[in-house]
Amino acid sequence: MSGGRGRLAAYLDQRRRMGEPAVLPRELSPGELLALVAPGDGGGTRRSRPSSTRSREPDTRPAGPAGPEGAARIGTADYRALRETALSCTRCRLCEGRTNVVFSDGNPAGRLMVVGEAPGAHEDATGLPFVGQAGKLLDLMLASVALSRRESVYICNVLKCRPPGNRNPLPDEIEACAPLLQRQIELVAPEVLLAVGSFAAQWLTATTKALGKLRGKVYSYQDVPLVVTYHPAALLRNPGWSRLAWDDLQLLRHIMDGK
Ligand code: URA
Repeated sequence: MSGGRGRLAAYLDQRRRMGEPAVLPRELSPGELLALVAPGDGGGTRRSRPSSTRSREPDTRPAGPAGPEGAARIGTADYRALRETALSCTRCRLCEGRTNVVFSDGNPAGRLMVVGEAPGAHEDATGLPFVGQAGKLLDLMLASVALSRRESVYICNVLKCRPPGNRNPLPDEIEACAPLLQRQIELVAPEVLLAVGSFAAQWLTATTKALGKLRGKVYSYQDVPLVVTYHPAALLRNPGWSRLAWDDLQLLRHIMDGK
């Protein structure tokens, strides 16, 4: 995080320390928040992933054919080997159109692991997850509860390669890619997981429920506490959901504070 976002993060952190968590985000819509830190950058109207997080409630299709229980396993011994396996992966058709495999960003020793859906155009171009507008909002959401990808957060996606035209991940693509995520979670061993968007939430909870029905509770993925919330791209298009998302972040903070 840098510039305006860095200053905002410091401000939010200060407020939180004063016992006033997430005051700013609750007062502003996600678009207004982005406009504040990135004036002239579209204010949240440019989308990094136009088609995959839609303006309606996420549908109830399963995130993958089987969820975590049914995923084939990858037994790579260490993180570096897993990353190398991912970077040369040809397990599904998405390898054909990718510029970069998007494995992760942030701190592998961070307390929190965020799992998103799939790379968009910016992520495919840079090889880093959540670097478009949705990523900026994600950084602000994390900053509102005193978390940052530089220090405390590790970020990745269910799919490591961009679906063409940012379409939704297909079940066989999730099935092919999920073992990487599964091993990634094992090796990173976060204290807490945050799923953003229905694909990550459904896969990690092994359900097919809509996100609106899933959020607001604490789940467990392989004994790691899991909170689910709306995808930041969905929040940019549906400012009315932001209060619920801020509540989810408070729940996350609560768990991380051991309350
Ligand atoms: N949306 C996601 O789910 N992941 C990214 O990396 C970028 C946008």
